[in-house]
Amino acid sequence: MPHRNREGHRKRSLAVFPGSFDPITNGHLDIIGRSLSVFDQVTIAILVNPEKHPLFTVEERVAIIREAFHGEERVQVDTFSGLLVDYAERLGASVIVRGLRAISDFEFEFQMALMNRRLNPRIETVFMMPAESYSYLSSRLVKEVFQLGGRVRELVPAVVERRLREKYGTAGVVHPPTRERGSGGREVPPSSKSERGIHSRASVRSRRA
Ligand code: PNS
Repeated sequence: MPHRNREGHRKRSLAVFPGSFDPITNGHLDIIGRSLSVFDQVTIAILVNPEKHPLFTVEERVAIIREAFHGEERVQVDTFSGLLVDYAERLGASVIVRGLRAISDFEFEFQMALMNRRLNPRIETVFMMPAESYSYLSSRLVKEVFQLGGRVRELVPAVVERRLREKYGTAGVVHPPTRERGSGGREVPPSSKSERGIHSRASVRSRRA
């Protein structure tokens, strides 16, 4: 039965979708879409964690997600620090949504859900499964693939691809230039543009989480 407030109006259901979103992927979008078919509103809550070294700052991640959901009034973007259940309580959300991609996600998610329930039994965790085509997708892999010159177009919203390009330079090959040595110790110049490391700005960046 829907919850009603004192005036008898149906209370809008609000779910929190927490995470690092560094960056948001189409897998996240899939889960948010599914959440909107169950809940009236979804707040995407980005964890502010000073111990992590994200690729995108919190402000950049907020801007990216706002752009990805431009015009969608049922989706809000926010940041939080401290305990997730405390944040959810302050927000007035009774549900935390988490995506479950594979069995490998399960153990950590199970621990987190039970700990959150212990901390605040009024808040329920709901797991949703993304489309199979996103079951292998993660923010970490997107960054790695992009950095190494792979195509991420179908894996992230357009704004993320653009921002990745702005961070790393032109999307493309970031392998260091090939330096084969011939028998006389002479360096053989790399033949292709990509081998010459034309787009190699990202190769000097350290690997990020
Ligand atoms: O996208 P991620 O990194 O898997 O998200 C993890 C997140 C942000 C949901 C989790 O780290 C979290 O809730 N952190 C807030 C601190 C907290 O409440 N910790 C206790 C959880 S059991």
